Amino acid sequence: MSSVQPCGVSDDDRRPPINDLLEIAQRGLALKPKRLPSWLFYDERGSALFDAICEQPEYYLTRCEIALMDVHAASIADTLGSDVRLVEYGSGNARKTHMLLEHLHAPVAYVPVEISPEPLRQSVERLAEAFPQLPLQPLCADFSKPLRLPIPPRAPRRTVVYFPGSTIGNFENRGAAALLRKMRNEMGDAGGILIGVDLKKDPAVIEAAYNDRAGVTAEFTLNMLARLNREIGSNFELSAFAHRAHYNPMAGRIETHIVSRREQQVKVGRVNVAFRADEVIQVEYSCKYSLEDFAALAARAGLAVLRVWTDPEQMFSVQYLVRASTVTR
Ligand code: AVI
Repeated sequence: MSSVQPCGVSDDDRRPPINDLLEIAQRGLALKPKRLPSWLFYDERGSALFDAICEQPEYYLTRCEIALMDVHAASIADTLGSDVRLVEYGSGNARKTHMLLEHLHAPVAYVPVEISPEPLRQSVERLAEAFPQLPLQPLCADFSKPLRLPIPPRAPRRTVVYFPGSTIGNFENRGAAALLRKMRNEMGDAGGILIGVDLKKDPAVIEAAYNDRAGVTAEFTLNMLARLNREIGSNFELSAFAHRAHYNPMAGRIETHIVSRREQQVKVGRVNVAFRADEVIQVEYSCKYSLEDFAALAARAGLAVLRVWTDPEQMFSVQYLVRASTVTR
């Protein structure tokens, strides 16, 4: 059953229950190679560290996407049209959304979908102040699971799913296509998807973005172990593990690992997990696309790219997708 939280956030009760965390960790650490899901990064500390990553000089993604929004938000809003219900997956601090909302014509509602309650509450508070007329319908939920979207205050002309930040890149090809297909269902026949997509470029530039000199990304990565220690009582010794992110040019993605600095044993619930020296836990992929790669991925989900906004250096793109069947050739 949906319930309404005190801050006006409806909670669809499908966030992973904390009790499942132990099982998820044990299962992932029993795989060969070991693997933990990247959503585990985003507890309160992880979300704050991610915000700090976005401020790092090497992490070009946020800077480029904001610059794109700065130049093109009005044209994007015109493409989306009036009376849109905007549903944002993984809304975080909703900074880019703010730029879009400034230009949207008579939006029906804004529905931020975010798994971390505190960032969700804070962003809603900020948006309520900036856009007092806009109906806000926050949903505390995991966007990768089926969603029960709140009933809009009036009938929208279309539902647009907004998915900025190139978070789509954190899914492998099959998962990314499945997620796009899910969005396609949620937006309906007349809807669209506005999505931020990071583009292929010099591997050195990409690798630097995931190995910032200040070590914020390393702290973000290792926070996953700190979270497990705190929430399920495991005993990872953080100094005995390291962050490693390298670009795999064949796969076109950053592969982030947590590396064991030495041979060691870690207690995860009743299970003793053995690590060899230099053994890794695979924790994140960040896929990079050419415009053709992404159009092919969209096509796998029954979608067509209607418009692309990009910067002169083609560092990053914002793309608008619609149902392939609605595009006449
Ligand atoms: C959220 N996501 C798009 C980020 C990325 O670039 O893959 C997460 C991240 N991981 C390390 N740095 C940033």
